[in-house]
Amino acid sequence: MATADLRIDIDRLLGRLAALAEIGAIDGTDGCARLALTDEDRAGRDLVVTWMRDLGLEVTVDRIGNVIGILAGASDGAPVMCGSHIDTVRTGGRYDGNLGVLAGLEVIETVTAAGLTPARPLAVAFFTDEEGSRFPPDMLGSLVYVGGLPLEEALDVVAIDGAILGDELERIGYAGPAPVPGLVPHAFVELHIEQGPVLEAEGVTIGAVESVQGISWQEFTVVGQSNHAGTTPMHLRHDPGFVAAAAAAFARELATELGPPQVATVGRLSLDPDLVNVVPASATFTVDLRNTDEPALREAERRFADFVTTAAAAEGCTVESRTLARFEPVVFDPAIVTAVEAAATRLGHSVRRLPSGAGHDAQMLARVCPTAMIFTPSKDGVSHNPAEYTAPDDLRAGADVLLQVMLTLASER
Ligand code: HGY
Ligand code: MN
Ligand code: MN
Repeated sequence: MATADLRIDIDRLLGRLAALAEIGAIDGTDGCARLALTDEDRAGRDLVVTWMRDLGLEVTVDRIGNVIGILAGASDGAPVMCGSHIDTVRTGGRYDGNLGVLAGLEVIETVTAAGLTPARPLAVAFFTDEEGSRFPPDMLGSLVYVGGLPLEEALDVVAIDGAILGDELERIGYAGPAPVPGLVPHAFVELHIEQGPVLEAEGVTIGAVESVQGISWQEFTVVGQSNHAGTTPMHLRHDPGFVAAAAAAFARELATELGPPQVATVGRLSLDPDLVNVVPASATFTVDLRNTDEPALREAERRFADFVTTAAAAEGCTVESRTLARFEPVVFDPAIVTAVEAAATRLGHSVRRLPSGAGHDAQMLARVCPTAMIFTPSKDGVSHNPAEYTAPDDLRAGADVLLQVMLTLASER
């Protein structure tokens, strides 16, 4: 069979997505919770590694726990790599990240089942801690993989629950021997759900992703004076909870004022001692700022930090901040973006170019090799939510485009 006529087996892909989603399943939903380096993450890793081995892939685990399965090619040149992540947020869906990894397995199984040996090796990877919601920053494993974060610094990262990344990696048995930075692929292609509303709203099946917007995660700790909620007159208070709440409201005002594509989210907010009748002693909160334009993102960061500093001073509080993640916008390889468009069109699917609002491992691989992404629609644009859904026909379309793009790249000298 000509490679152009190869198609993936959607039932096999749906079966693996369902089996993986069983691990950390969130009761009453189709979603799953597998925070990075938890027991659930280990179980998910073990299952995918088993599938890799069942396919006869050479499996490597590197020092930060990234896992790569490689199918030998006719030549031993640099592989064409696909992949994503299988860790999830605590309120995760079954497609975010998992689709890119399991579709990669499906592509390889389709090629081997057809008795084909690709000119170049094909690789499928899952990277450690893409979400970053337990151990910041996000895309941590792929960042270490490309040499963007020293291994020792990554191993020392402290989780929001106090665990140390290196300890957890050892505990789940994924502190592997393979060195980082890892092997440089010939090219990298990541299939991922859009996690936004654009493709569905326009009735388009495939997204040819041109770029990823810049990401800024900051944590602020505001310290005031704990006091009695009943006896302390309002003008004598130094209430960090008031400052945190004002900051959360300002985040919305700032994004509204700056307009799209600026977004701003105060996703974490904790008060200490967190009691109904106590003026808080301290408030700790995060802000996630994103924009496709780097100078605009810097301006948003400056405006937000200035607001917090001024509001804290006015309330007689002190404030400290630290950066949890900071990545500039990334532009993907135009030739691969064009290859995605051409494959989608050849397969009879509608396709459009668009930027990614979410961060992805591909934005790190783009530092070392030609890289691009393929999106499939998300129902109601919902993600990071157990209700996340992408229709089987769209999953099939995305995986077929991934198959064709990888075969095209594998035939390159
Ligand atoms: O935060 C992100 O954009 C990704 O889901 N880690
Ligand atoms: Mn993802
Ligand atoms: Mn995600």
